[in-house]
Amino acid sequence: MNAIPPIPSGPAPALAGAPPAAPLRDPFGRAITYLRVSVTDRCDLRCSYCMAETMTFLPKRDVLSLEELERLSSGFIRLGTRKIRITGGEPLVRRDVMTLFERLGARIGTGLDELTLTTNGTQLARHAEALAACGVRRINVSLDTLRPDRFTAITRRGRIETVFEGIEAAARAGLAVKINAVALRGLNEDEIDDLLAWCGERGHDLCLIETMPMGETGGDRNEHYLPLSLVRARLKQHWTLSETSYRTGGPARYYDVAQTGTRIGFITPMTHNFCESCNRVRLTCTGTLYMCLGQDDSADFRAVLRAGADDAALEAAIRAAIARKPKGHDFVIDRRTQAPAVARHMSVTGG
Ligand code: 5AD
Ligand code: SF4
Repeated sequence: MNAIPPIPSGPAPALAGAPPAAPLRDPFGRAITYLRVSVTDRCDLRCSYCMAETMTFLPKRDVLSLEELERLSSGFIRLGTRKIRITGGEPLVRRDVMTLFERLGARIGTGLDELTLTTNGTQLARHAEALAACGVRRINVSLDTLRPDRFTAITRRGRIETVFEGIEAAARAGLAVKINAVALRGLNEDEIDDLLAWCGERGHDLCLIETMPMGETGGDRNEHYLPLSLVRARLKQHWTLSETSYRTGGPARYYDVAQTGTRIGFITPMTHNFCESCNRVRLTCTGTLYMCLGQDDSADFRAVLRAGADDAALEAAIRAAIARKPKGHDFVIDRRTQAPAVARHMSVTGG
């Protein structure tokens, strides 16, 4: 008979092929397996629906180091997180961010199934190869228009060529690229067919997003709100869309596009509440964990880390936060004040 090995103290070592931890469950029975990590609130663009022209970004001392972000992410992986998406702001403007990709990429197959990125694409040409080498397989690139002048207007400063170059570099590096476009009344609604055709020619899925009332932008976001039910009805006049059960672990509902062989997804936080199947929580670059995109309740992990928490204390704090995850959001704009439903900008939690 074999001797029973001693029970190791401390966290279990990450063994290659080790079975993943049983997922954490929130009070509504939803398994929380997806962590979105915003590594910076900064961005080199100022998309009109996302940010104000003049933004005050966080002082560096408030922002977690990449080591701290990795430590927190590891805590989540030990508690059953299978997918991590790096977001921002624009994640690729953070100095040395590739070291975080390297470290987390090394966890793929030992707890983590997937490491992904949401980016505006402006810095992608320089980083695409390295991302692929870290084990990233799929990325989302935000692109709301194909027209250079419109791109500069919507982003208030960008050059679309840098994004095109980034997307090409990503495709060359073998990354599957999904294009995210916010559907904007009066700004790009006449281009949705073109976007779908462009994506189809290149083999990219396209995902359309409704504007969400998050953070002051210095403009009236309502003015450009476009319900995707309307967009879908218009698209169906020219494209054959058939609903699929395909999911990427996110809230999008997908349709196969017969003419392109690619997919189109719709994220409809305003017209359809997708909270029942929510599997995610969001960590900001200051270590604030938001249990719901559309609610203000949060947990402060910077305080936990900087108070010197060991791994057990960190895990207890993660469990306590998940136990507070709310049932859902309702993005209601205050009709009287026209104030956003959620005060923080999308660039704080990265969508
Ligand atoms: N509403 C909807 N989408 C937004 N994004 C940024 N701000 C908003 C908002 N207020 C989008 C970006 C990007 C994704 C992460 O979220 O364009 O595609
Ligand atoms: Fe930057 Fe993305 Fe916000 Fe545009 S939507 S300003 S690219 S964070």
